[in-house]
Amino acid sequence: MNIKQLHPHIGAVVSGVDLTQPLSGSDFAQIREAFNRHSVLVFRNQAIDDDQQVQFSRRFNDLEKITFSVAAENPYVYHLSNVDENGRLLASDSKKRVFLKVNSRWHTDSSFKPVPAMASILSGREIPSTERADTDFASMRVGYARLPQQRRDALRGLIAVHHYGYSLNLIGDGGVPQAELDSLPPSQHPIVRVHPGTGETSLFVSGHIESIVGMPVDEGRQLATELIEWCTQPEYVYSHRWEQDDLVLWDNRCTLHRATVIPEREIRRAHRTTVKGEGAVDAPPS
Ligand code: OGA
Ligand code: MN
Repeated sequence: MNIKQLHPHIGAVVSGVDLTQPLSGSDFAQIREAFNRHSVLVFRNQAIDDDQQVQFSRRFNDLEKITFSVAAENPYVYHLSNVDENGRLLASDSKKRVFLKVNSRWHTDSSFKPVPAMASILSGREIPSTERADTDFASMRVGYARLPQQRRDALRGLIAVHHYGYSLNLIGDGGVPQAELDSLPPSQHPIVRVHPGTGETSLFVSGHIESIVGMPVDEGRQLATELIEWCTQPEYVYSHRWEQDDLVLWDNRCTLHRATVIPEREIRRAHRTTVKGEGAVDAPPS
């Protein structure tokens, strides 16, 4: 196995491993170590199917079930695509586009759940040959480290309210049934957290932040936006340019990501598995 850094601050490409096959304990340990170190891992040429993707994903932890209306055959595999049930490109006013557009604001997956996700694994099943639809990544660990000490101290102890209904509503209602929204009430997490795998401190902000406890709503949103912008300055962003059969694994505990474009003329299909977090988000000791 070979691991090569992709960007000075985030991401590495891993070669010499076949994720469609069961991995040995030592191969998996190497991947987990690289994941903790680089936060985003890219594996090229992985023509993986859903069952194999689930098998690989489960090595990290249990998986989140897809609760959304977009659920497919396998309850653990989210089909992200710009086509309808008949395989035709979505109309520009299609409700399903809302789910794709939600991804275009910087966020971290499932931050609105009481236990946010550890990792997401996205497999590029059908990638446009001419239209680009990169996924951008930025490190909240690097963002935290670059803050002046005084600012870091001031942020410690702040609690953010993350709410899926909030971020969804910014885009449109997506036709999500009320019962489903009711099953995803707001969750509160510290905005400075400790990474369970490395003990490192990072910011924990997301487009799903609706407010910050104890602050006027507008001010809280402003602060969240400012911190997200701080982490995602262009020189700190790794933009992943997709190739067919790329598999990208990212650490939701310490990275932000966003979709850049939703292709209009060509089909893009990607399948995502989401690895559960290990427990409530830990704030650093005060
Ligand atoms: C996701 C996501 C971005 C993209 O799968 O969680 O945000 O470019 N995807 O598809
Ligand atoms: Mn996402």
